[in-house]
Amino acid sequence: MHIDPFFVEQWMNAHETTATWNIAETCVHSLTLDELLEMSGDADGVVRRLKETWLGYGDIVGSPRLRAAIAALYGERITPEHVLTANGAIGANFLALYALVEPGTRVVSVQPTYQQLYSVPESLGAEVRSLRLREEDAYLPDPDAIRALTDERTRLIVLNNPNNPTGALIDEPLLREIVEVARELDAWLFCDEVYRRLEHEPGSTAPSVADLYEKGVSSGSMSKSYSLAGLRTGWVAGPAELIQRCLDVRDYTTISGGVLDDALAAVALEHVDAVLERNLGIVRANLAIVDEWLTREPRLRYVRPRAGTIALIRYDYDLPSVDFCQGMFDDSGAFVMPGIAFGEEHSFRLGYACARDVLEGGLAAVSTYLRTLEG
Ligand SMILES: Cc1ncc(COP(=O)(O)O)c(C=O)c1O
Repeated sequence: MHIDPFFVEQWMNAHETTATWNIAETCVHSLTLDELLEMSGDADGVVRRLKETWLGYGDIVGSPRLRAAIAALYGERITPEHVLTANGAIGANFLALYALVEPGTRVVSVQPTYQQLYSVPESLGAEVRSLRLREEDAYLPDPDAIRALTDERTRLIVLNNPNNPTGALIDEPLLREIVEVARELDAWLFCDEVYRRLEHEPGSTAPSVADLYEKGVSSGSMSKSYSLAGLRTGWVAGPAELIQRCLDVRDYTTISGGVLDDALAAVALEHVDAVLERNLGIVRANLAIVDEWLTREPRLRYVRPRAGTIALIRYDYDLPSVDFCQGMFDDSGAFVMPGIAFGEEHSFRLGYACARDVLEGGLAAVSTYLRTLEG
């Protein structure tokens, strides 16, 4: 079996520990355990219960408490029985794709997106057709263009909403149109929703495909919107039949999640409003810093993200994105993701949800580097 190297993860692995200014990170600046305990309002009680935790495998499918807290992020269709925990969204995506992709069938996926969403289906023997999201469309998919890529062998359509790397947000009416395309084909609609609930405008929360469609499957995670990547806890939410298929796969890869991770993820989701208030505060304030910086950099532009932690920034310099980003790293210590990771040359992905001093220092370092290109 062949699987393409995962560019984003390899670039992160190569640079993230030595970067002076890590403005490539896609998580909201992570919480410490102390901060999470503080948010729980009952630090002593939580610590006591953690100390009493029995360190066996725990609940194989995830604790009832955590699955209830995850189900509460969705509408009525998703109950705890419709949720399966996984090793991050990367584990959740793998389980769902392994369960959903049939060799010899066609999968339609949006691009740019997180490479796992199309490279895993390809490795499983599907023919992947990509719908390239364009800057002039604000990186939103056209349902007719999705339809045109499907054929009678199409069993799965893959979305990522809010989108990595653009921060574009598919609102409910457009999402419903895409659901109709899937329904006409009786196809599954799988959506990686790890940046959901981090929509910047109040009241613009992206609906989940798991709530809109009887064959809609959603993946989520504690890593991004909830700033707890170290818990390595994600999930799949969808129809019971699909959850069972994911569990059949998961028995071979995971057995169960870590019991301490599970307990802390439940604490965080039970205080979801406090966590999101902190995190929305960070992304809104930091995006305003990026806006202001861009007014001083006329050779950079972006479609302003509406959600999440990242933005795709296009540059007007005659350099391939790997050379541009490596040069920036070497000269200024600023670490960003080359656009080629998403098939988007002459661009880079900026992670702006880091600590404010890192963002400000990182953007200043990028500017210093740009001046060397102009000198
Ligand atoms: C769209 C998307 N999906 C999944 C993941 C994996 O996240 P995790 O496994 O930390 O939950 C990432 C991480 O960058 C991502 O951006």
